[in-house]
Amino acid sequence: MIETLLIDGGVRLKGEVTVSGGKNAAVAIIPAALLADSPSTIENLPDIDDVYCLRDILIWLGADVTFEHGVMSIDPRGITRNDPPYELVRKMRASYYLVPVLLGRMGSSCVPMPGGCDIGNRPIDQTIKGLTSLGADVDLSGGVIRAQVTDHFEGTEVFLDFPSVGATINTMLTAVCAKGATTIHNAAKEPHIVDTANFLSSMGAWVKGAGTDVIRIRGGRPLHGSNYAVIPDQIETGTLMIAAAATRGDVMIRGAIPTHMESLTAKLLEMGVHVNEADDRIRVRADGKLRPINIKTQVYPGFPTDLQQPMTAMLASVPGSSYVTETIFENRFRYVDELRRMGANIRVLERTAIVEGVPQLRGTRITATDLRAGAAMIVAALIAEGRSEIKGVKYIMRGYERIDEKLRLLGAMAIHKTYADNEYNDDEF
Ligand code: EPU
Repeated sequence: MIETLLIDGGVRLKGEVTVSGGKNAAVAIIPAALLADSPSTIENLPDIDDVYCLRDILIWLGADVTFEHGVMSIDPRGITRNDPPYELVRKMRASYYLVPVLLGRMGSSCVPMPGGCDIGNRPIDQTIKGLTSLGADVDLSGGVIRAQVTDHFEGTEVFLDFPSVGATINTMLTAVCAKGATTIHNAAKEPHIVDTANFLSSMGAWVKGAGTDVIRIRGGRPLHGSNYAVIPDQIETGTLMIAAAATRGDVMIRGAIPTHMESLTAKLLEMGVHVNEADDRIRVRADGKLRPINIKTQVYPGFPTDLQQPMTAMLASVPGSSYVTETIFENRFRYVDELRRMGANIRVLERTAIVEGVPQLRGTRITATDLRAGAAMIVAALIAEGRSEIKGVKYIMRGYERIDEKLRLLGAMAIHKTYADNEYNDDEF
């Protein structure tokens, strides 16, 4: 099967659009529901491939799961297995959140090493540190994470070497299962960390300090199912804000949390974009000339690495020199080759992209090499002259719910096409 996204560039995006539920919150909260002794209902889930993949894993493990209209009900009481299959686990990074929850539920877990976007080295040493500090036995031979509860599985002090999102969530999930007090130092502060902690609290866990760099947990309490709605997607919000600004549009983004967007908003204002916020709405308006800027990705509340790619695509047609430095993942500039094929003038020196804005990108056939590279391709296609055909759409669908529909709602010509392998015609484009 071949999937493409066709976009005609040159349209100023205008109108209103609603943000979907947060992917990176959803993929942590769904596994966390397995820690309960009764069913949970999770609302506002995005209709994306990563959520379907988790649903399939949970069903495979024996849980009773339904997922319709953004609502998943999860009854974990039928779970009999602790070894999710490689074919499902390899599809997404977040599948390793199953390690602590199956450990907590079953006393042991056996989870193949996770997959996910190829954006650089993605070690799991800090997750392993969290698990072993809390007294779990962990064995990594054969590409499988085998974790086992021991006699000394109990709360403790955990110092993360880096505020890793995944390690913070995994350590939090382990700590709610281990009896006694745990303190996670140098914790990540991203909105999805806070959302996961809030979900755990709603299940009866004692978790304080999420959103700061010290999280305290009193573990070992029985957890019950909960009804919970995940937060709006911070990165989808940011991608839509960038798309609105890049096309010199006027877009009202609804259902967003403006405080999650402060680092991006500051950069857009610096460029000369108008950003107005109220409650759960952000209006982004741009007209005329924009100014080049410098960006350095940082952990939250710094500029998110997940918005580095769409932002660089916008800067590719902003006159002047912009410097974009990636500090989180070393391999997140692969999409720059595709932007160059559209006429962008970008050089990458180690971890910095030097972007010399050109007057006009040109539409062509381009490929998304990972999820956020896909967001960059969309932004570039929207501002380019003529038609672009984006391949690698499976990556985009992992994280952006009905993105083609949302762009059409804002006046763009964007069509998601699916072909059988023998139907795809190279000349059609
Ligand atoms: N790191 C380590 N050791 C670890 C874990 C991470 O050295 O044990 C390093 C990584 O090599 C990397 C940095 O820490 O340099 C950041 O990794 P982190 O663990 O924070 O990232 P992650 O949990 O793998 C999540 C998001 C990513 C997002 C990053 C950074 C999920 C499911 N994924 O990944 O989202 O880019 O945090 O904010 O939450 C995406 O949505 O497209 C995406 C890739």
